[in-house]
Amino acid sequence: MDQLEKLVSQAIADFEAARDANSLEQAKAQYLGKSGSLSELLKGLGKMEPEARREAGAAINRAKAAVEQALEARRDALRQAALEAQLAAEALDVTLPGRGRGHGGLHPVTRTLERIEQLFASIGFAVADGPEIESDWYNFTALNTPENHPARSMHDTFYLQDADKVLLRTHTSPVQVRYMHQHVERYKDLATMPEIRIIAPGRVYRVDYDATHSPMFHQIEGLWVGERVSFVDLKGVVAEFLRRFFETDELQLRFRPSFFPFTEPSAEIDFAFMSGPNKGKWLEIAGCGVVHPNVLRHGGIDPERYTGFAFGMGLDRLTMLRYGVDDLRLFFENDLRFLSQFR
Ligand code: PHE
Repeated sequence: MDQLEKLVSQAIADFEAARDANSLEQAKAQYLGKSGSLSELLKGLGKMEPEARREAGAAINRAKAAVEQALEARRDALRQAALEAQLAAEALDVTLPGRGRGHGGLHPVTRTLERIEQLFASIGFAVADGPEIESDWYNFTALNTPENHPARSMHDTFYLQDADKVLLRTHTSPVQVRYMHQHVERYKDLATMPEIRIIAPGRVYRVDYDATHSPMFHQIEGLWVGERVSFVDLKGVVAEFLRRFFETDELQLRFRPSFFPFTEPSAEIDFAFMSGPNKGKWLEIAGCGVVHPNVLRHGGIDPERYTGFAFGMGLDRLTMLRYGVDDLRLFFENDLRFLSQFR
């Protein structure tokens, strides 16, 4: 049956030539389909003598089995090839170097704050905290600022709607009395209570906007209350702080008499560099003074026994001086071209 062998090898060749599943199925139809050549041969058996038919039938069936086996093998091969092609196409080169993600960094004001916290921690000051939405009582009354006192209009205050006794704090000083309350609560026995030595950094708000004023800015409150704490200690702490903050001894300090309802006496602190680009220029850096007895009383502390000093420094101003920035608003506009210089 020479003809059958040819047919089988032709089928195998056709299957091999099929490049994908679709053309393979078409090639299959030529041989195994309803009117494919093998099917036709089987149909022709009917006209044969029984003897010849048995022999021919067996041969055709062997040929058919061979074709089917070749078909199956080719199907497997094509499936395998398709899988390999897909794997190759989707391959990741894990040895490629990464594209990088850029580096974030802390905001210059935050960096300054962290530095200041460290410096004050090293001389025994803890960090305290208070709310930015503050009551009129803590922001003014507890700080010895009576109703209708002109000092209330010294700060242009943002009051919250429908609640004229609630405001955005205009300074960090309300933390003084808040902290005194916490301290007295914690150490019920005032006779053995440890000194209060805190700084309280945070956001404060005033109606103000120009190159050196933003409606939101940062202050750092300082408070030291104990027995026999005086203006001398205030001077020592501030001088030491400024020398370490600016990393120079070439500093002059000036306490200019001033007024705050919550301190008596009160002063503004100015300082000047004795060398460098800002040499000889007096820069205002803080308000300060000896804590007023009424403030201690509001905080639950006996002013006959304890005294203290307080200061409020401009954190943004310190940051501007440290980094040589001359417009405060740059800190709060979130322009990455500016901010990324501090990474
Ligand atoms: N709270 C004052 C201000 O914002 C600064 C200050 C703080 C003054 C503590 C004296 C004592 O201007």
